[in-house]
Amino acid sequence: MKIRKASSADKENISRLHIASIRELCAKHYTREQLNAWTRILTPSVYDQALKEKIFLVAYDSQQDLLGLGILDAGNAEISAVYIHPDAAGKGIGSNLLNELEKIARNSNLFKITVHSTLNAKGFYMAHGYAEQELTFHNLPDGSKLECIRMNKDLLKDAG
Ligand SMILES: CC(C)(COP(=O)(O)OP(=O)(O)OC[C@H]1O[C@@H](n2cnc3c(N)ncnc32)[C@H](O)[C@@H]1OP(=O)(O)O)[C@@H](O)C(=O)NCCC(=O)NCCS
Repeated sequence: MKIRKASSADKENISRLHIASIRELCAKHYTREQLNAWTRILTPSVYDQALKEKIFLVAYDSQQDLLGLGILDAGNAEISAVYIHPDAAGKGIGSNLLNELEKIARNSNLFKITVHSTLNAKGFYMAHGYAEQELTFHNLPDGSKLECIRMNKDLLKDAG
C-alpha cells in the first residue's frame, strides 16, 4: 500500500470508493434514506473543490487500485474525510492516511485538529487520540441531516 496526492484523473474511482465505503461501513448507523441521500450527491465533480483547495490523499495498491482516501482542510484545521474501501478496511490503511494528514497538519503549524466523525468511526478516532466534544449534524442538500460527532486532537501531545 502506498499513499499519494489525488488528482483529477482519480475522481471517478474516488466517487466509487467513497460510495462503497459509506454503503457498507456506515450502514449500521444510518437509515437507508440517509445513506441514499448521502451517496446520491457523490458524483465525480463533487471532488473538484477539495482537489483544488485541500490536501487530498489516496492510498493505492500494486495494481494502482484505490484503497482509501483522506482529506485535510488545513485552512480550517479539520480532517474532512477518511474513507476506506470496504474490502480494504481493518488493515491499517485508515490509520496510515490519518497519520499522514496529521503529519502535514503539524508541518503546517497546526496545534489542534477537529473532525466531524461519522457515528461508526468514533472508535477509530478515539484509538488515534481524538476526544469526543459534541453531537453535530451534517446537512445534506435534500434537507436531511446526518448525525456526527465533533472530536478534537491536540497535535502537540502526540507528535508521533
Ligand atoms: C473508520 C475507517 C476510516 C477506519 O479505517 P481502517 O483502515 O478500517 O482502520 P484501521 O485498520 O487503520 O484501524 C485502526 C484502529 O482503529 C480501530 N478501528 C477501526 N475502525 C473502527 C471502528 N469503526 N470502531 C472502533 N474502532 C475502530 C481498529 O481496531 C484499529 O485499532 P488497533 O490498531 O488497536 O487494532 C474505515 O472503517 C472507514 O472507511 N469507515 C467508513 C467511512 C467513515 O465513516 N469514515 C469516517 C468519516 S469522518
